Amino acid sequence: MQTIRAIKEMQALSTRLRSEGKSIGFVPTMGALHEGHLSLLRRSKDENVFTAVSIFVNPTQFGPQEDFNKYPRDLDGDLDKLSPLKVDAVFFPDAGEMYPEGFSTSIQIGHIGEILCGASRPGHFNGVATVVSKLFNIVMPHRAYFGQKDFQQTAVIRKLVRELNFDIDVNVCPTVRETDGLAMSSRNAYLTKEQRKAAAILFRSLMLGKDLVVSGRISDARRVKSGMMGLIEGEPLVGVEYVEVVDAENLAEIREIKTPAAICLAVRIGDTRLIDNIIIDNMEKLV
Ligand code: PAF
Repeated sequence: MQTIRAIKEMQALSTRLRSEGKSIGFVPTMGALHEGHLSLLRRSKDENVFTAVSIFVNPTQFGPQEDFNKYPRDLDGDLDKLSPLKVDAVFFPDAGEMYPEGFSTSIQIGHIGEILCGASRPGHFNGVATVVSKLFNIVMPHRAYFGQKDFQQTAVIRKLVRELNFDIDVNVCPTVRETDGLAMSSRNAYLTKEQRKAAAILFRSLMLGKDLVVSGRISDARRVKSGMMGLIEGEPLVGVEYVEVVDAENLAEIREIKTPAAICLAVRIGDTRLIDNIIIDNMEKLV
């Protein structure tokens, strides 16, 4: 496993691999790796000759009041998790390498980044779009892999790739869950034992949403949302930020549930903000 800190070195490696006709798979991460990330890496290993992962806690996607400073960082632990997977390269630049003095370019992703999570995290998705564009230009992958857990992020990145003509195949992979259904996330580490127990309500509420749509044949999004909110509000440690039913392609809010739709939610448990979602791609089968 090659460890690379310099942009020029990563670009030179990718240029060489491409000239040799080798396919490059890429998993961008902010580290604190868990089984969700590892599942993306396994998929990349299956589909590409060369797999690169980046580890970079990107300051431009955190708001001033957010958890940039306390975001979990564990490079040695991450490298230990990566080595049995036989990942080919780890790119872990520092902030000065990615954003040198005077850096001022930013991608404005527009409305899709201002709704749902973007409403309470202004600028977040512009920061994601900017760093992912930089990483794509540095790693030059043929295929990139993202988790469905960050559903809005995947919609933002698909739009970015389409509109800026990146020649990259974006793959959205299933959310990996704990045994009680909680989606794996680096931020789960912030939860106390009690909060962690309470967090199981996220998945339970998504399952209720699914039952209401699929078994209960309810297509009125407001009824599905209020059923889910009622369940979450019964858990005193959890505060709902939003529960929304949206078009799975463009994230537009929908009133009448038709497929493909996504039920997305964000909650606060103490100081920790958690998100999750499910996609309804036909009325019988839910992902
Ligand atoms: O999902 C993440 O970990 C980050 O948003 C990403 C895509 C690595 C960009 O910093």
